[in-house]
Amino acid sequence: MPERVEPASAPVVLSMGGSVLVTGEGDERYLPELATLLRRLSPNFPLVVTAGGGRVARDYIRLGRAMGLTETELDELGIDVSRLNARLLASVIGPPCPAHPAGSLAEAVRDAHRSRIIVLGGTEPGHTTDGVAGLLAERLRAQRLVNATRVPGLFERDPRKDPSARRIDRLDYAGFRRMVDAAVSGTAGQQFVFDRLGLEALTRAHIPLRIVEGRDLPNLERALRGEAFIGTEIR
Ligand code: UTP
Repeated sequence: MPERVEPASAPVVLSMGGSVLVTGEGDERYLPELATLLRRLSPNFPLVVTAGGGRVARDYIRLGRAMGLTETELDELGIDVSRLNARLLASVIGPPCPAHPAGSLAEAVRDAHRSRIIVLGGTEPGHTTDGVAGLLAERLRAQRLVNATRVPGLFERDPRKDPSARRIDRLDYAGFRRMVDAAVSGTAGQQFVFDRLGLEALTRAHIPLRIVEGRDLPNLERALRGEAFIGTEIR
């Protein structure tokens, strides 16, 4: 059994969107650079990373929906793809990260108490990997949760559809909750910058959420370290 490592400080949770991790563009350079950053930061604070399913998960869910699969079966397709991405990232990080991602919150809590870095995908139907990240942040009393996405923060409107949309640099939980409620109905594969269940967990535990563009690694590092960064802070 691996030796239990007492964290020197509270963990930092990182929710890596699948559409940041595996984009089909430059992934073979990005993934090792991300892995190096996470290994380098892990002596400072334990890292708990969730991996999303990204475009591949959405493609499977779209196909499954056309085939008449139930919402639970569609969620399970998304979970499987996120676990595949978690497995890939865990392998690229290598030791001290366990190669086999935890399959449940309880397993993840156990792994987080034994390793300075863990990576996992989805756990159960009904939320996204941002939800997993929020629930784990609450259970582990994390310092903060950093959500790495394809856009540099939270915008008034989707900046990919409306380039004039402005970034919101700071927001409180209640203001963000109103935006999540307006955007998310909860069906499988639905996309918004964050998950309602995850936000509820962060609000209960008073854990700040930082939203950043995940491919900008120097900025991601500042956000993880708790330093000034470009993006959105919700608290
Ligand atoms: P993702 O976490 O990948 O959702 O889960 P996302 O918001 O699209 O994230 P990106 O694009 O990767 O950043 C994909 C789908 O998998 C199911 C849900 O249907 C979700 O929409 N899922 C995922 C679950 O049901 N439970 C989980 O724990 C995780």
